[in-house]
Amino acid sequence: MAQSIPEQAEAALAEAEERLSAATTVDEVKAIDTEFLGRGSTLSGLKAGLRDVDPDDRPAVGKAVGEARSRIEALVTARTELLSAEERRAMLEAERLDLSEVLELPAIGHHHPVSRTWRRLEDTFVGMGYTVAEGPEIETDWYNFGALNLPEAHPARSMWDTFYLEAGEPGTVLLRTHTSPVQIRTLLAQEPPVYIIAPGRAFRVDTPDASHLPVFHQIEGLVIDRGITFADLAGTVDTFVKALFGDDRRTRLRPSYFPFTEPSAEFDITTADGSWIELGGCGMVHPNVLTNCKLDPEEWSGFAFGFGIDRIAREQHAIDDLREFVAGDVRFLSQF
Ligand code: DAH
Repeated sequence: MAQSIPEQAEAALAEAEERLSAATTVDEVKAIDTEFLGRGSTLSGLKAGLRDVDPDDRPAVGKAVGEARSRIEALVTARTELLSAEERRAMLEAERLDLSEVLELPAIGHHHPVSRTWRRLEDTFVGMGYTVAEGPEIETDWYNFGALNLPEAHPARSMWDTFYLEAGEPGTVLLRTHTSPVQIRTLLAQEPPVYIIAPGRAFRVDTPDASHLPVFHQIEGLVIDRGITFADLAGTVDTFVKALFGDDRRTRLRPSYFPFTEPSAEFDITTADGSWIELGGCGMVHPNVLTNCKLDPEEWSGFAFGFGIDRIAREQHAIDDLREFVAGDVRFLSQF
């Protein structure tokens, strides 16, 4: 005997249910959807057949067909959601990058500890309103000595053992022994007020040891303005030392002699363990230096300072021997 419409609808639902639970992809579910609910499907056919049903039975039969259809629709939706979530998970799994597999990062290097100290010094002074000036490493006798108040044959010249170059008149072209000539170049190029620092390389005939290198780095500071006093110098030294090393560091000035400053001082700072170490020289710019730069000492005054960058870096990293900085040993350098 032929199945009734509700029986056929029930059968279609049962088959769709079975097929859907066996489906493993979203595309497969879509095909089943079309097959059972689309045009020309069993359920569409059953719906069309309703017109031949006895009008009294039509509502009940129609309801059975409609229920089967909505059950199948619900099953399709549920299966689609489940399978698309699974497909997505599988895709993520397939595309996942296992970063933990990179056991060793490629060595890309970093800045040399002396360069880092150099930059920090620049940052510190720029933060205090200074600008960064530069000068040549090959200098003339006049910029390196004469203009800085060391006339020829001045005994103080022996403070600097100089590399002279075979250029020009003998004894006139040299590798700068300090960054102080940048003071002269700046004052000749720029009207006061002047607030500059000048970091750079300097050269001296010196046998390398734990605290000396023949090629080393200095930073020069120069302030020229109206009414600058020794107290400004002392305050500036203290401010940058604290900014660089921390508020617990102290500074002190000791009387000294430099031809280009009067009065002159050497400045010391406390180390991490509280003992004193010498950092550099400083003083009030000598009137002769101002006059050499065509400035009136009655109008302008200022201070200057200079110290070794390598020594600061050594202090920052508690390194025993400056020579480590130039030995080029990667095992040493990679620690910083
Ligand atoms: N130029 C000096 C040196 O190399 C350091 C120095 C001392 C620089 C006193 C200065 C200063 O500007 O005022 O030993």
